[in-house]
Amino acid sequence: LGYMEPSYLIEQAVVAQNRARAKYSKFYVGCSLLAENNEIFLGCNIESAAYPSTMCAERVAIYSAIAQGTTNFKAIAIVSKLSAKPCGPCRQIIHEYLGDVPIYISNGQDNNYETHSIKDLLPYPFG
Ligand code: THU
Repeated sequence: LGYMEPSYLIEQAVVAQNRARAKYSKFYVGCSLLAENNEIFLGCNIESAAYPSTMCAERVAIYSAIAQGTTNFKAIAIVSKLSAKPCGPCRQIIHEYLGDVPIYISNGQDNNYETHSIKDLLPYPFG
């Protein structure tokens, strides 16, 4: 099924990236989260003038999906210009709420992507 392919998930993450509200850092991040039932949840980073109130794209997607009643996931895609890996707190939340799903990371601009697992991004996790 095409919509389950990494490239489709990355495309959806780019849709979310275009919704990012990042006027302070100008670093635009998008995330798409594939649920077990093939539903896709999107997230973008949302910054605040009170800087620490900013929320990352990954956690916007994960928290939103959970709030809407979804608990089982099978993949996540993250895009940003520099193919940035998730921050520490996002790694912890991925570990706790997604588990060992493929993590596709792309710059959203060419057809390349990296595949990671939370085991390589967050070895020896807390919990
Ligand atoms: N950001 C994310 O959305 N995800 C990450 O994993 C790292 C950082 C956002 C937060 C902030 O809006 C901007 O990128 C610069 O740090």
